[in-house]
Amino acid sequence: MGDVSKTVQIDGGSACDGIVAAELSVFHYRSFEAFTLQLDPGVTVLVGHNAVGKTNLVEALQLLTAGVSFRRPAPVELLREGCPSGRAMLRLMGEGRLLDHAIEVEEGKRRFIKNGKNTNAAGIRGVLPSVLFCPDHLDMVKRSASARRAALDSFGVQLNAQYGKLLSAYERTVEQRNNLLKECPSLDLLEVWDESLARTGAALLMHRRALLERIRVRFIEVYQAIAPHEVPDVAYQASIGVLPDDRDEVSELFLRVLRERREEELRRGLTLVGPHRDEVVFTIDGRSARDFGSQGQQRSIVLAWKIAEVQVTRDILGRYPLLLLDDVMSELDADRRNAIMGFIADEIQTIITTTNLGYFSQDVLDRAKVVRIGAEER
Ligand SMILES: Nc1ncnc2c1ncn2[C@@H]1O[C@H](COP(=O)(O)OP(=O)(O)OP(=O)(O)O)[C@@H](O)[C@H]1O
Ligand SMILES: [Mg+2]
Repeated sequence: MGDVSKTVQIDGGSACDGIVAAELSVFHYRSFEAFTLQLDPGVTVLVGHNAVGKTNLVEALQLLTAGVSFRRPAPVELLREGCPSGRAMLRLMGEGRLLDHAIEVEEGKRRFIKNGKNTNAAGIRGVLPSVLFCPDHLDMVKRSASARRAALDSFGVQLNAQYGKLLSAYERTVEQRNNLLKECPSLDLLEVWDESLARTGAALLMHRRALLERIRVRFIEVYQAIAPHEVPDVAYQASIGVLPDDRDEVSELFLRVLRERREEELRRGLTLVGPHRDEVVFTIDGRSARDFGSQGQQRSIVLAWKIAEVQVTRDILGRYPLLLLDDVMSELDADRRNAIMGFIADEIQTIITTTNLGYFSQDVLDRAKVVRIGAEER
């Protein structure tokens, strides 16, 4: 295995050039009564036994940067059990500004607040994007296609507000069209919906394809730094067929395929083609990594994908995201741990949780801020 830190260039810049997360405070949130965490602009390691609330804190950081949590909690699940209300607040600093992002839960509802004003998840996104890597992600290659589409989409919506709008519009259209298909609609009405689905779907496909192409370049670079003798690749496989370059042509192709599948769709009451049925296919040496990859190769793919997300954020926005590494050290072997460690330069603000500092090199521990989370914090 090669040394990622030497092979993959991290070109200049520093987290301090952009926006950094400075302080997270939570009140009646998950397992916490009240807790404040000061974050280092470089690396912060949260160390503590199982169930002390490390992932709960990472989840709050993700919610307050990406606007969503990988656990997809109902609002009341965020509340400390038995409490009527609670909140988490993140203070962001940089570019001569102080910003406050908060999420409050009250009466079973959650609301996001940005600098004292109500907003929504989309209003939180984009200020400081975050990339989360947690054990849930490790089998992304093996799981169903929806996990890989979600990986692409959850990254895309943080980088581009239009991506998020298109994705929601497309998902709504599929849902409404599915309802319609179950009701034996008139042909005229169905065609109106087909037009709308094809138009929104084509626009979403353009975003997905462009984003995947950017990730692909970085992904290959990083993977080959981890495993120099293998040839990895990743491709977007659209369920409507090979995509033309032009958006209008994509839309026309989509419409043609919808007509071909109409009978079957009416019979099953389901929209059977479109971006919600597409695949992101990883290969190693030309063979499907899902079917033929070893567990180690599949994990290297996820690791390379995550690092690629960090770099693509920098490529597109000109600054690094907040990197959240929840409990992944214990899941990776020494080579892959070293690959991550080599990659985390001071330029990338990183929060790492662990139960065991033994996974970290002395060099990392020397430059990191280590925060012990104990049962008394809860
Ligand atoms: N809404 C809630 N109210 C009270 N406690 C909660 C709530 N949600 C989660 N918890 C508790 O938080 C604890 C888990 O916290 P968390 O997952 O952050 O632990 P962790 O430190 O990451 O542990 P591990 O090292 O095992 O991953 C559990 O004991 C769980 O019961
Ligand atoms: Mg945890």
